Amino acid sequence: MPSGSRLSEVIEQAKLARKRAYSPYSKVKIGAAVLTSRNKIFSGCNIENASYGLSCCAERNAIFKAVTEGSRDILAIAVVGKSEEFTSPCGACRQVMVEFNPKMKVLRRGLDGFSADTTAAELLPKQFNPPELSKR
Ligand code: THU
Repeated sequence: MPSGSRLSEVIEQAKLARKRAYSPYSKVKIGAAVLTSRNKIFSGCNIENASYGLSCCAERNAIFKAVTEGSRDILAIAVVGKSEEFTSPCGACRQVMVEFNPKMKVLRRGLDGFSADTTAAELLPKQFNPPELSKR
């Protein structure tokens, strides 16, 4: 179980990542950061593109960075946006979260003081994750 101070650091890193959002089209800024079982932190921001469909969410960018660096065992993810509505992960990000850990803690934080803790499985009930396709 990660310590409270480490989780605070994950939230802090998500806040910093939010400042690096590249979102000239929507102007929405989201930051995310993940904590791995080896106590590493990887952050991500949303990155948009003139070809809108190529844009990628902060949550997936953070998770994909961790996996790329060899850290698949993700214990927690912090998501920071300006308020509650901007901390609710999209369906694609929820599916990617449950892929790596359905029990992943999802720490949602708004710059306006909103705060809610949940898990990836709670955010995505009846997920597509058939055991016979399992790869772990
Ligand atoms: N966005 C995220 O970064 N995370 C989500 O879970 C939902 C949406 C970003 C994508 C896009 O750059 C902007 O928010 C508006 O949709």
